[in-house]
Amino acid sequence: MNYNEFLSETLEKLEKVSSERELAELKATIFGKNGAITELMKKLKDLPPDQKPQAGKAINDLRVQLVEKCEQKEKELHKAKIEAALKSECIDLSIDKCDCHSGAVHPINQVRKKLTDYFVGNGYIVYDSPEIETDYYNFQALNIPPDHPARDMQDTFFIGNGILLRSQTSSGQVRLMEKYKPPLKMICPGRVFRNDDDSTHSPVFHQMEGLVVDKNVTLCDLKGALEGFAKFIFGDQTKIRFRPSYFPFTEPSVEVDVSCFKCHGKGCRVCKNTGWIEILGAGMVNRKVLENCGIDPDEYHGFAFGVGLDRIAMIQCSIDDIKLMWDNDVRFLRQFR
Ligand code: DAH
Repeated sequence: MNYNEFLSETLEKLEKVSSERELAELKATIFGKNGAITELMKKLKDLPPDQKPQAGKAINDLRVQLVEKCEQKEKELHKAKIEAALKSECIDLSIDKCDCHSGAVHPINQVRKKLTDYFVGNGYIVYDSPEIETDYYNFQALNIPPDHPARDMQDTFFIGNGILLRSQTSSGQVRLMEKYKPPLKMICPGRVFRNDDDSTHSPVFHQMEGLVVDKNVTLCDLKGALEGFAKFIFGDQTKIRFRPSYFPFTEPSVEVDVSCFKCHGKGCRVCKNTGWIEILGAGMVNRKVLENCGIDPDEYHGFAFGVGLDRIAMIQCSIDDIKLMWDNDVRFLRQFR
């Protein structure tokens, strides 16, 4: 073989190579197991001894030159590949912004998050309880037996066979107390369902249940917890008041009002000129409920409360129709960014 001819032919081929794959293929024909250089090396042994050193040197020079040229080509291809990638993946920061809108957290979620922050900051755990419930957890264990008149307070969706859509997050109290031993401090936020439908009621709405069970828990502790919560939500100057009420699962039971955050008690549209806004129901956990959950009512006491999240959102954002919160009209939602 004429080495010079072979060299110039190979370099010509190398010149035309345009991809890493093509280069690998060409390299195989030169340096591979049956490649040209390998073949030349093999043939060396057949040469007369006096020609061997010279031929060996010539083949080696040829090999070194080709290796060098191939490495050079490899670098060129690599550089071209990076340049192509940089070009195709480049982000044009000067491009005009698209006409997109950022979303807003729904007012109910804003309230839920704020309340959760407050209670978690005060050592409460967040407990998730099922939306599809049995009559036992939603009513009976909460001291509301079948035919109890208190059932009329909540027009419940029964699915059948003792199964219903929970009408109150209070069912979470029972599930928690059955599962864990006191001391307990929990909130249970979630959706509840009632057959109610007007401008201030929706068949689906949101509540947050609160429960504390420990030794020596009193009504004063309940008042302290709710006062802190009211100040956190409505501002430092907010006062609360308890009015006697009735819930089968608490004894005594109270309804809790906060001083109006708009007029600070003078009387305005928000508080319907009373200076007070009703925000939740609460009380000391009824002995029977503790007993139903296997907790000794002589050793432990508890308080509980239930807040309507939609109601708080409506009061705070001056929303007078609950349906607006379900329409998901972005013009409405954008106002609460
Ligand atoms: N579950 C009640 C309701 O939906 C609200 C409530 C009242 C919850 C008093 C409580 C409570 O935990 O102690 O109307």
